Amino acid sequence: MNNSILTSYGRTALYLALLSIGVQGKKVILPAFTCNTTVPSAIVQAGGYPLFVNVNLSNLGIDTNDLKSKLDKDVIAIISHHYFGSFNKSVYEIQEISTNAGLIHIEDCAHSLGATDNSRQVGYTGDIAIFSFSKSLNNPAGGAIYFRDLSLKEHANELQEQHKNFFHSFINDYETFKYLSAITKDRNNVEDKMFHYHLYFSRIFIKILKELKIYIPNHFYKIMDNQNKGSYPVFDTRMTVKQKNYIESSINNLQNIIQKRQMIASKLDKIIPAYLRDFEGNTFTQYVVKHSNVCKLEDIFRKINIKTRRVWPAFQPMWSGQYNSNIEYLKNHLLLVDLDFITDEKIIKLEKLL
Ligand SMILES: Cc1ncc(COP(=O)(O)O)c(C=O)c1O
Repeated sequence: MNNSILTSYGRTALYLALLSIGVQGKKVILPAFTCNTTVPSAIVQAGGYPLFVNVNLSNLGIDTNDLKSKLDKDVIAIISHHYFGSFNKSVYEIQEISTNAGLIHIEDCAHSLGATDNSRQVGYTGDIAIFSFSKSLNNPAGGAIYFRDLSLKEHANELQEQHKNFFHSFINDYETFKYLSAITKDRNNVEDKMFHYHLYFSRIFIKILKELKIYIPNHFYKIMDNQNKGSYPVFDTRMTVKQKNYIESSINNLQNIIQKRQMIASKLDKIIPAYLRDFEGNTFTQYVVKHSNVCKLEDIFRKINIKTRRVWPAFQPMWSGQYNSNIEYLKNHLLLVDLDFITDEKIIKLEKLL
């Protein structure tokens, strides 16, 4: 698409989008319920300051009163989220607030590729949208940015060109196909035989390139502080040819996968209701349930071999200014259920155990 740029990950899409709007020294508002190793760290790596706002417990939308109270002249952008495959309708109000305040609204669609609200696709409300290809599909990472303003897109293109590194394809393919291997194993419980990049020498060679500063690595997992004490050099954010080829062939299957997940979700909803109720346009990257005893529920799902995950605050360290009672509540009440290997038989067993 004319307005889009492909990137190595969803997180690098966000990072490049932020660089392109000139985030250096500015504040970026984001929901406190977020992925800490990718979202606030992308802001800091791009030179900005993450400013967390509360979320509503009913729909995970940004608390707009808290948002309005935090607006000041140093804020440049607001990042909204669509969670776990759903379309978060709060993006319309956020877009209005953002436009009125002269800010840029970045719609983070990383979880919700293909989600809709009355046939309106995610990503067409904000000024910029970012996507990830490895949340609803097993792909070697990959991300994309959609710009409404073509001049911003041109600027992002220039930045990508300017920071090209000769070794990028080699290193990025090694890292992203290794990532594919890990997510395939985690989600499907099988080793990914496709992964050919495990060679010991590649790992050592990449380490040397990074140590010698011949290749600039990203620091996503190392940043856990919103004070931005260091400044980070710009790194290569391009999607490689190998990634692109892989993603192009896997994406053809997305609609089928979504339909299957929607079918299972509607059956599951009868015995354990979905927390996010937008059934029609929800792609169910994860099926979200709310329960007063998440540990007990986890055990029940484990007994019948259904994969579940706790939400971020249960396992990620929090940033300063992020944690509040709503985040605590979500941590203790939400469970994410993987729909891909749920059969009718398992649903019957689940009903008996619940
Ligand atoms: C809300 C959100 N945005 C962005 C990302 C980044 O996506 P990727 O894993 O493709 O870098 C994630 C990843 O977990 C996420 O949860």
